[in-house]
Amino acid sequence: MMITILYGTETGNAEMLAEDIAAELEADHEVTVTNLSDFAPTDFDAGTFYLMVCSTYGDGELPASAQPFAEAMAAAGAQLLGVHFAAFGLGDSEYDDTFNGGSQRLVDLMVTHGATQIGARVIHDASGPDMAEDLAFPWASEVVALACETMGEAA
Ligand SMILES: Cc1cc2nc3c(=O)[nH]c(=O)nc-3n(C[C@H](O)[C@H](O)[C@H](O)COP(=O)(O)O)c2cc1C
Repeated sequence: MMITILYGTETGNAEMLAEDIAAELEADHEVTVTNLSDFAPTDFDAGTFYLMVCSTYGDGELPASAQPFAEAMAAAGAQLLGVHFAAFGLGDSEYDDTFNGGSQRLVDLMVTHGATQIGARVIHDASGPDMAEDLAFPWASEVVALACETMGEAA
C-alpha cells in the first residue's frame, strides 16, 4: 500500500525513527518520509495511509517542525474525511504533566478535521527502558495490517 510517514521533530529523533520505520516497511510497501514542515493539509490523499511520528516540546506542545502544519490545518479549515492515519509519540516522562502531549495534540487535530485514526497511539518514554524502535516497529506493522483491512488493500 501507499504509506507516507509524516514526522514532527525539534532535534531529529522523530526524523531518525521515521527513516528507520520506512526501512522496515519498504520491502512490502511504497513508503515516503516527509517532514510535517514540508506538508500542507491539501496534500492529504485518501488512497495513502499516514504514519505520524511526533515528539513533544515546550509545555506539552507540538515540536517546531509540526507547528506550521497545525496552523495551516486550522487556517484552511481542512476537511480530511476519508483520510486514515496512525500516531506514534516521542516524549519524556520527566515532563510528567505534559508527557507526550505533542502526539496527542496531533491526533486531536487530525480527528477534529475529520480523519480516521487506525489503532491506538503508542508512546515512547526517553526516560524509560525501551528503545523507540522496539515499540515503533511492532506498532507500524500492526497499524499497517489494520489499515490494509480498513482501506481494502492486500497487506
Ligand atoms: C526543552 C525540551 C522540552 C521538552 N518537553 C517535553 C514535554 O513537555 N513532554 C514530553 O513528553 N517530552 C518533552 N521533551 C522530550 C522530547 O519530546 C524527547 O526528547 C523526544 O525524543 C525529542 O524528539 P525530537 O528530537 O524528534 O524532537 C522535551 C525535551 C526538551 C529538550
